Amino acid sequence: MILGVNVDHVATVREARKGVEPDPVMAATLAILGGADGITIHLREDRRHIHDRDLKILREVIPVELNLEMAATKEMIGIALKVKPDMVTLVPEKREELTTEGGLDVKRQKSNLKNAIRRIQGAGIPVGLFINPSTDDIAVSKETGADMVEIHTGLYANAKGGKQEKELIKVARSVKEALSLKLGANAGHGLNYFNVKNIASIEGLRGLYIGHSIISRAVLVGIERAVREMKVLL
Ligand code: PXP
Repeated sequence: MILGVNVDHVATVREARKGVEPDPVMAATLAILGGADGITIHLREDRRHIHDRDLKILREVIPVELNLEMAATKEMIGIALKVKPDMVTLVPEKREELTTEGGLDVKRQKSNLKNAIRRIQGAGIPVGLFINPSTDDIAVSKETGADMVEIHTGLYANAKGGKQEKELIKVARSVKEALSLKLGANAGHGLNYFNVKNIASIEGLRGLYIGHSIISRAVLVGIERAVREMKVLL
């Protein structure tokens, strides 16, 4: 199974000072050394974390799957056609949200998605849709012509006990439905070191896309060494 590591949060820290560090490109190369099969970035309309420069350099330097998350807008489609990531995941985007908060409204946006998918695929780039774990939405995704779906695991990740089991079943059913329609099935959002196992054991999953928990752990496992290195300088 593919592990795609999302390095947006590294860019978020960089943007706290609007400087050059930490560089999400460097983080991506280290993630690859650690075994990441892919790197994901979300280029947002307001460029609040990842910048066009990051996408461009990642395209040039990483030897693994580059997954560009983006809204299905004219501007983003133009960028995707120019930079040619290995895959595109279309996501909903609201300016004020902290992260992508829900899956695409595939029913309402069907014709816009269909057009966007056709244009991106025309450049030889496979396209996935980030959707809620609903078999109805899987069926609509198929009708848009998408190659893959990424099932939103946020509700599963936030639920506890029996409720979490129910959410797990919804994700597993969605994966099964996607596979039966010959759609690649990915999953992501909110997955961490404690809740990932149940999702990872769903049969047929192509890949998991994980960001926040990995970058959070990287800060904590790295802090001791970073302080020691500063103490040596003092
Ligand atoms: N997949 C999609 C479509 C996302 O928008 C995000 C968050 O940027 C992720 C996966 C990763 O989620 P998390 O950072 O919670 O692991």
